[in-house]
Amino acid sequence: MAPLRHLLPALTLGSVAHSAVLAQDQFQKRCESFADEIDTPNVKVNIVSYVSGSTNLTLDNVATCDQSVAVSSDVCRVAMAVTTSNASEITLEAWFPRDYAGRFISTGNGGLGGCIQYSDLSYTSGLGFATVGANNGHNGTSGEPFYKAPEVLEDFVYRSVHTGIVVGKQLTDLFYDEGYDKSYYLGCSTGGRQGFKLAQDFPGELDGIVAGAPAINFVGLLSWSAHFYPITGPVGSATYLSLDEWDLVHEEVLRQCDGLDGAEDGIIEDTDLCHPNATTLLCSPGEASDSCLTAAQVNTVHEIYAPLLSSNGTLIYPRMQPGGEQYAAPAMYNGQPFPYSKDWWRYVVYSDPNWNATKWTVKDAEAALRQNPYNIQTWNADLSPLRDAGSKLLTYHGLQDQLISSDDSKLYYHRLLETMGATSSQLDEFYRFFQISGMAHCQSGDGAYGIGNRAVSDYSTDPEDNVLMAMVRWVEEGVPPETIRGAKFSDGVGSEIEYYRKHCRYPRRNVYKGPGNYTDENAWECI
Ligand SMILES: *[C@@H]1O[C@H](CO)[C@@H](O)[C@H](O)[C@H]1NC(C)=O
Ligand SMILES: *[C@@H]1O[C@H](CO)[C@@H](O)[C@H](O)[C@H]1NC(C)=O
Ligand SMILES: *[C@@H]1O[C@H](CO)[C@@H](O)[C@H](O)[C@H]1NC(C)=O
Ligand SMILES: *[C@@H]1O[C@H](CO)[C@@H](O)[C@H](O)[C@H]1NC(C)=O
Ligand SMILES: *[C@@H]1O[C@H](CO)[C@@H](O)[C@H](O)[C@H]1NC(C)=O
Ligand SMILES: *[C@@H]1O[C@H](CO)[C@@H](O)[C@H](O)[C@H]1NC(C)=O
Ligand SMILES: *[C@@H]1O[C@H](CO)[C@@H](O)[C@H](O)[C@H]1NC(C)=O
Repeated sequence: MAPLRHLLPALTLGSVAHSAVLAQDQFQKRCESFADEIDTPNVKVNIVSYVSGSTNLTLDNVATCDQSVAVSSDVCRVAMAVTTSNASEITLEAWFPRDYAGRFISTGNGGLGGCIQYSDLSYTSGLGFATVGANNGHNGTSGEPFYKAPEVLEDFVYRSVHTGIVVGKQLTDLFYDEGYDKSYYLGCSTGGRQGFKLAQDFPGELDGIVAGAPAINFVGLLSWSAHFYPITGPVGSATYLSLDEWDLVHEEVLRQCDGLDGAEDGIIEDTDLCHPNATTLLCSPGEASDSCLTAAQVNTVHEIYAPLLSSNGTLIYPRMQPGGEQYAAPAMYNGQPFPYSKDWWRYVVYSDPNWNATKWTVKDAEAALRQNPYNIQTWNADLSPLRDAGSKLLTYHGLQDQLISSDDSKLYYHRLLETMGATSSQLDEFYRFFQISGMAHCQSGDGAYGIGNRAVSDYSTDPEDNVLMAMVRWVEEGVPPETIRGAKFSDGVGSEIEYYRKHCRYPRRNVYKGPGNYTDENAWECI
C-alpha cells in the first residue's frame, strides 16, 4: 500500500489540523470509547477497535470473500449489523482515519456480492476519508441468498449502499468533532451501478460520485452475459474457439484496428472505429487448423461482435467492444453458462434452483426485463435532479473490459443527451465520462490503466492522475478534469511505470500526432 507521502498538500483540504490536535494515544482512546456513544437506530455494533497502519488485518469472513487486508494507515474500525427490514440486515464497516481530511466516502461492491471490498476501505481511509463499506445485504459471491428473499434483493439493488451512507454520515459526525465537509462515492462494476443508483434515485445525497465500468442496464447486461454460451456452445463444439484461437482473433483485430488511432502500440484508442471481420482468418483448403478458423468459428466471432436484440428487434444490450479478446475469452467465451446470469434466472427470475442455464434464450431475457425488481436496471437517463442538486458524477470505462461492454456506457451517455435535451458541454458541467484505453474490467489491461480508482503498488494522488482526487478537486475547487492520465505498468502488479497516457473525455477520442514515441503522452491529442 502506498504510504501517506503520496498525499499532496494542496489536496488535503478540510481539517488537516485534526491529526495535530489529537495525540496518538488520544485518538486510540477516542476509538476505544466510541462504542458507548453509538446509539443509532437499527445499528448493532459488533467491533470497535483501533488498527494501526501496516497491520495485516485478519477478517472473520465467508470463504469467497477477502480473508485479510493490509491496512494502510491508522484507523478506528467500527463493524456493525444494520437492520434494513424485518427480514434483512447489512454488515457495515466504518473506518475513521487518524489523518482525517474532513471528507466522507462510501465504497461499493462487485458481481452479485456480498463481499465488503476491504482493499477499498484501506485505500480511501489511507487517503484521509472517513470510509464506509457494506456487504450489500448478504455474504459471499453467489446469488442464492436472493432466493425467495425480496428484502435481501432490495438491499442489493439500492438499500445497502444507501443505508451505509446514511448511517456512515451520522457516525462520522459523531466521531469527529468537526464532522465532514464533503461526501463522495467510489465504486466499479456493481459498485459502478450502485453509484449510478445513488445518482438517479438519491440526488444530492453525495457531492461527488466516481462510478466506473457500471453494471447499468443491469438485466440487459446479465442477458448479454448469458447469450455467449448459446453462441459458442460447450467446449469442443464446432462453434467453440479455444484460447489459442482467440489469440489469433486478437492479433487480427489489432491488425485491422490498432493503427486507426495513428499508433501501432497494441492499444485501440477508439473502439467505435473498429468493426473486425474475421473472414480473413478462414482456413484455406489444406491449411493447418491451428493458424486459422473454420466457417462456424468465424460466424461465432461475428455473432459475438453483434449487439443483443430482443425477438422484436429492439436493442437489449450493445455489442462487446473489440480489443479485449484475451481477457474476455476465459471469462465469457469459455463454453460454460456465465455464473452470475445463471444465478439471476435461478434465484430471482424463476425462483427455481434447478433451472438449466444451458437452455437460456432471448425469451428469458424478455421475462427478466419485465420483472426488473426494484428497478435494478438503473437506466433512468434523466439526471437533472442530480445536476440541480449541484452534485458531480465522473464515470470511466475500460476499452478492454471483458465483463461489461464499454459500449453500454456510450449508449447511456447518448440517452442522457437525448432524454435531457442537453449538449455534451452542458453534460460536462456535472457529468464526465472517460474512455480508458487498455483497461480491462476495473483493473489490469494492456495499456495505461493506472488511474487511482483502486490501490495498486504505486499510485499517484495527483488529481491529474487519480479519478478520485480529480473528483475532490472538481467538487472542492471547481476545477473539472479535462483528461485522466493513466500509468502503464510494465510489471503487471502496478509498481513499475513504463509510460503515461492521457485519456480523453467522451465523446472526444485520442489520436496519435507524433512526433515522439507513442509512449510520449504529449504525442497524443484528444479530438
Ligand atoms: C496476512 O495474513 C494472512 C493470514 O491471516 C496471510 O494469509 C497473508 O499472506 C498475510 N498477508 C501479508 C501481506 O502478510
Ligand atoms: C455476514 O458475515 C458476518 C461476519 O463477517 C456476519 O456477522 C453476518 O451475520 C453475515 N450476514 C448474513 C446475512 O449472513
Ligand atoms: C415484515 O414487514 C412487511 C412489510 O414491510 C409485512 O408485510 C410482514 O408481515 C412483516 N413480516 C413479519 C414476520 O413481521
Ligand atoms: C467480412 O468480409 C467478407 C468478405 O469481404 C464479407 O463478405 C462479409 O460480409 C464481411 N462480414 C462482416 C461481418 O463484416
Ligand atoms: C441441461 O440441459 C442440457 C442441454 O439440454 C443437458 O445436456 C443437461 O443434462 C441439462 N442439465 C441438467 C442438470 O439437467
Ligand atoms: C420489444 O421487446 C422489448 C423487450 O421485450 C419490449 O420492451 C418492447 O416493448 C417491445 N416493443 C414492441 C414495439 O413490441
Ligand atoms: C517506442 O517505445 C517502445 C516501448 O518502449 C519501444 O519498443 C520502441 O522501440 C520505441 N519506438 C521508437 C521509434 O523509438
